[in-house]
Amino acid sequence: MSTGSLTLIVFAAIAAQVIVFVLIGLRRRKQQFRDLESRIGEQQGSVEQQPVTSNIAPIVSPDAAEKTPLAWQGFKEFIVQRRVMEAAAESICSFYLTPVDGQPLPSFKPGQFLTFKLQIEDPTSGESKSVVRCYSLSDSPQPDYYRVTIKRATPPANQPGAPPGRSSNYFHDHVQEGMQLSVKAPSGHFYLMEAEPLPIVLVGGGIGITPMLSIVNTLLNSGSSREIRLFYGVCNSAEHAMKGHLEKLQQAHANFHLHVCYSRPGEKDEEGVDYQHQGHVDIRLLRLTLQLKRYQFYVCGPRAMMESLIPALEAWDVATDDIYYESFGPATLPKHQKVTQQASKPTAVQKSITVTFSKSGKSIAWNPDAESLLEFAENNNIEVDSGCRAGSCASCQTALESGEVEYSQDPDADVEDGHCLLCISKPKNDLTLTA
Ligand SMILES: Cc1cc2nc3c(=O)[nH]c(=O)nc-3n(C[C@H](O)[C@H](O)[C@H](O)COP(=O)(O)OP(=O)(O)OC[C@H]3O[C@@H](n4cnc5c(N)ncnc54)[C@H](O)[C@@H]3O)c2cc1C
Ligand code: FES
Repeated sequence: MSTGSLTLIVFAAIAAQVIVFVLIGLRRRKQQFRDLESRIGEQQGSVEQQPVTSNIAPIVSPDAAEKTPLAWQGFKEFIVQRRVMEAAAESICSFYLTPVDGQPLPSFKPGQFLTFKLQIEDPTSGESKSVVRCYSLSDSPQPDYYRVTIKRATPPANQPGAPPGRSSNYFHDHVQEGMQLSVKAPSGHFYLMEAEPLPIVLVGGGIGITPMLSIVNTLLNSGSSREIRLFYGVCNSAEHAMKGHLEKLQQAHANFHLHVCYSRPGEKDEEGVDYQHQGHVDIRLLRLTLQLKRYQFYVCGPRAMMESLIPALEAWDVATDDIYYESFGPATLPKHQKVTQQASKPTAVQKSITVTFSKSGKSIAWNPDAESLLEFAENNNIEVDSGCRAGSCASCQTALESGEVEYSQDPDADVEDGHCLLCISKPKNDLTLTA
């Protein structure tokens, strides 16, 4: 064999090897690409199973999407150290709580709430039932106690024969000094933004004054020089909570301005002394009173007030980032665009939606008149846990196996992935819930 043909054979062998390596490489890349494609496909498949909460914004503070770890898990025992009546009509009572285990008390953010689990006897069956309710912390963080301030819930004016509120009346009538209560750690996304020291407007309607008290006490105790304006809307002096305390604060702090509105002043209530304005806290009053400058607004009150005031503030061109609000019950509140969990495309209008409760083995046509999935489940005798019915306590959190839900207000509780809060959601399309 000549040298030329030998060289040719060697080159051919090398070229063949290179081709084999290239082919093997290409095949591997192709396999990797297929694996990647199928992984993405699986992820997309599971994303579709997640609850889609369109336009989720905090109720709340800009960092609401962040899940802050709780100071303790589950319920912990507290002892009631003191009870103090806070209004002339004796319809509002504060409860001072200290931990039974004597451990140091974790701090909280002013505006946050505690969740209580009470065992209350059902008046009809006589059985003890567990009742979960949330109550805002009403004082600044203290080293030795938490304080909540609770208003007795009476039957609605148009249904005087209805039963009175279970938890609030239990607190007023049965929770005495020395008694133990089961309490979840402070939580909630509605709290004072301390980092940005803008002038601040607090609006508390009725018992919605409680988180505002915590914010005012915290700011003034810390010597803050921020301009603080508190608008407190209440019926009259009989229901006026912590009247003396608030008036003393106003006298002591030039930066604290109190604007009390009585909707139905009593005979002895004096304008300019007991209250400053007659009527409700509304956008007209805010526009007349506030200067033209940037304020941070914190609002908490009854449903009607929330549903009118929040959109009115937005219509007045207050930046949504400067409005923080909390609702003590279900309300239909504007959903901000600040934090969007999974932006969902508008779904085609469906004629009928089927809700499947997989554990109960029931598939039922959704009733568009139902306020929420929780009410719908209860009306169809599906057993689901509930507590606050306002998206705060997470008792009604349920796994969503397929489909999407839409919230009527932003959840205050941290919702686990693949779950939804039944009390403030409605189905967007066919759903399967683990219930
Ligand atoms: C985050 C958060 C913070 C809160 N902070 C506070 C706070 O600081 N202070 C405070 O007082 N509250 C607060 N609340 C509200 C509180 O959690 C309770 O909702 C409130 O005390 C009423 O609960 P209840 O068990 O007494 O009344 P429920 O038993 O839940 O009844 C509610 C109302 O329905 C009426 N009712 C009951 N049965 C019927 C019927 N069959 N037909 C018609 N009407 C009926 C009752 O008379 C009552 O008026 C807060 C709520 C949330 C979500
Ligand atoms: S019942 Fe409390 S979050 Fe739904």
